[in-house]
Amino acid sequence: MHMEKKLFGTTPDGQVVEAYTLRAGNLSATVLTLGGILQTLCVDGCDIVAGYDTVEGYLNSDGYMGALIGRYANRIRGGTFTMNNRVFTLNANEKGINHLHGGNVGFDKRIWTAVPAMMQGGEGLVLTLVSPDGEEKYPGTARVRVTYLLSPGCLAIHYEAVADRDTPFNMTNHSYFNLNGYDSGDIYDHTLQLYADRYCEVDADLIPVNIAPVDQTPFDFRRPKRLGDDIASAHPQIVRGSGYDHNYYLNQEESMKWEHYTLYRAAYLSAKKHTMRVYTNLPCIQLYTANFMGGPIPLKGGAPKCNQHAVCLETQFAPDGPNRGESILKAGESWDYTTLFALD
Ligand code: GAL
Repeated sequence: MHMEKKLFGTTPDGQVVEAYTLRAGNLSATVLTLGGILQTLCVDGCDIVAGYDTVEGYLNSDGYMGALIGRYANRIRGGTFTMNNRVFTLNANEKGINHLHGGNVGFDKRIWTAVPAMMQGGEGLVLTLVSPDGEEKYPGTARVRVTYLLSPGCLAIHYEAVADRDTPFNMTNHSYFNLNGYDSGDIYDHTLQLYADRYCEVDADLIPVNIAPVDQTPFDFRRPKRLGDDIASAHPQIVRGSGYDHNYYLNQEESMKWEHYTLYRAAYLSAKKHTMRVYTNLPCIQLYTANFMGGPIPLKGGAPKCNQHAVCLETQFAPDGPNRGESILKAGESWDYTTLFALD
């Protein structure tokens, strides 16, 4: 089958990075073999995800733009946890203190193997990766497969993994959305609805310490609300995150079928130009309003990179799970989750 494939660039150590472009109806998506990065996502030609034009842009910035995140998305306190009565210590890549988004060289910086896959009414790309035993000090070899499927009106990301030893496991995609176009300014006028009654309060390191009701807080998005309304509120949790940077527990009430999976309504995001609905069978979502997005390297086409010009909706397991005895992928069992982004 024919799918557009281009050389995107090469890494400093000489690895080739390819870019595949998937098309379906009024949607197109470019996916890189570097980090499985979603480099573009266009609705009627309007590109709604932030990213870079070059490999250097991705490797020299720390925002994880569009990338697949693993082996454990978000933070693990001190990089350490106890599992099966043994203490494990992962690389502490965040300020030398905590483990963030898989470590120094997480799945976002690895080169994935890509194989195009034809599907009815759309196009797919199957990405695979072997994460060796000891990578970033994780136990066991993990074999990971992520499938991007683009069909008219919908991008699906299907995550599958198995490991030969028990290991923490938690994957997400870290896309920075702006539904008016990634270069169109701040996201304060985007309206967000989150199907979640509870969120995690965080400590100064942004690690959850407590689960709290969203009721009567700036975190209440149970009814659609402008992102800008409370993003600069004096609520101590907003101050701590410099905006929203918090995990929500999804209510998992309204569901839909996708293949043989039951996916739950997670979020609804709308702006002047486009709207997006997020469905997933993952239990949580990180709302991150790109509070540390700024930086010297410009975005695609030279567009300036500014804080809060995008919003991330990262479906996931709750951060720091291994320190609560959660989010351990047992040897030989399979990790199998899907997130859908329905676009208008
Ligand atoms: C988010 C995280 C933020 C920040 C960001 C990457 O998932 O919650 O605190 O680290 O990734 O810049």
